[in-house]
Amino acid sequence: MDGLSRRRMLVTGGALGALGALGAASPARARSLWTWAPSGSVAGKGAGVDPDWVWDEEADPVLAAVIERGDVAKANEALRKWTRNDQPLPDGLPGDLRDFMEHARRLPSWTDRDKLAAAARFTKKKGIYTGALYGLGSGLMSTAIPREARAVYYSKGGADMKDRIAKTARLGYDVGDLDAYQPQGGMIVTAVKTRLVHAAVRHLLPQSPGWSATSGGQTIPISQADVMVTWHSLATFVMHKIKDWGIPVSTAESDGYLHVWQVTAHMLGVLDEYIPNSWDEANAQSRQVLDPILASTPEGDKLTELLLDIVAELDAGLTRPLINAFSRYTLGNRTGDLIGLDREPFWQPLISAAWPLLVAFREGLIPLPLVPEAAWTVEEAIRRFVLLFLSEGRGIHLEIPETNRPS
Ligand code: HEM
Repeated sequence: MDGLSRRRMLVTGGALGALGALGAASPARARSLWTWAPSGSVAGKGAGVDPDWVWDEEADPVLAAVIERGDVAKANEALRKWTRNDQPLPDGLPGDLRDFMEHARRLPSWTDRDKLAAAARFTKKKGIYTGALYGLGSGLMSTAIPREARAVYYSKGGADMKDRIAKTARLGYDVGDLDAYQPQGGMIVTAVKTRLVHAAVRHLLPQSPGWSATSGGQTIPISQADVMVTWHSLATFVMHKIKDWGIPVSTAESDGYLHVWQVTAHMLGVLDEYIPNSWDEANAQSRQVLDPILASTPEGDKLTELLLDIVAELDAGLTRPLINAFSRYTLGNRTGDLIGLDREPFWQPLISAAWPLLVAFREGLIPLPLVPEAAWTVEEAIRRFVLLFLSEGRGIHLEIPETNRPS
């Protein structure tokens, strides 16, 4: 999808980047100086501008114009008919939007089909872990990412979290799909639509009094840095936990999983100079952009409550205490405390003891008799959750918003 360009509103090279870093004093901007070098990116080079000052210079003006002209309903009606990667764009799209989408739907020149196939094999084998980690790890962590929590809370979707979760699950489902970027798959469609939604949000949110009052000086939301923060809360976090849990992953599969997310970042409009070219580079960038900014906010706290209720409502046999305990086990106590997860004296020790044994058994590292009976309650609940969570996304249409959260 988008070429190596997109959201760069390089307001001005290094000078403003440095100024941005200086402005990092308030909690919403508590981030260290951007020093991650473009030599570690898929582009291999770049200006090194702080991505906090880069948005989407290709998509943003187009979506602003579509909204201002009152063309959102017309665009959404046409977008509903676009579901497969290989499908021509539907009739009825406004001309400027269509031109942009024709450009944005192209995969980057560095797409590697073999790596994508390895990613599909990885998800097929390890889908229960990635599903659980997206749903009960990354999803909840997002409420401790202040800018994301506020953007979500004050945007239209913040008023209907169930719908929003279904739409986000759609991305989790499509990215893990065996056909993700194949002609018959749907990930190009999902990524391009998401890019449109983000560009619309950049136009709308600055008009929200609630967002403006809490944005910590950021005047346009969803910078390239913000997108990479969320990217790390998904891809980097999941691979880190998989390794942490001792799950064997071949180099080809680990590289493949990185690749599917690199392509996804590009398709979401991230410039190639900000997309890490290896897990080492990803970990280094994540330490710089994600770890220091995790914090609790009133908006995040409200979203956590809603999310936990909705997960429990999925009726996958997961009770609130089990969700609290599994999420805390996955996210660790620091993030668990930030998002206000209850401590669960019954479930926490059980999960800490049982999960490593379940993983070891699933991976063929220990025999069945070593897995305690109670562990299967956890395994069954997580498995059903993953199935239900991912199926939530099917048949859901991503739509361009035309308003913010109604106040
Ligand atoms: C919408 C994924 C980064 C804020 C969406 C949607 C998806 C998505 C699938 C469509 C669902 C919907 O319309 O509700 C992603 C991915 C990201 C990313 C994969 C990074 C890898 C971010 C960041 C922010 C953000 C960094 C804010 C700082 C939003 C908002 C919406 C949205 C406000 C609008 C939906 C609504 O009305 O609530 N995103 N996103 N996203 N995203 Fe993102």
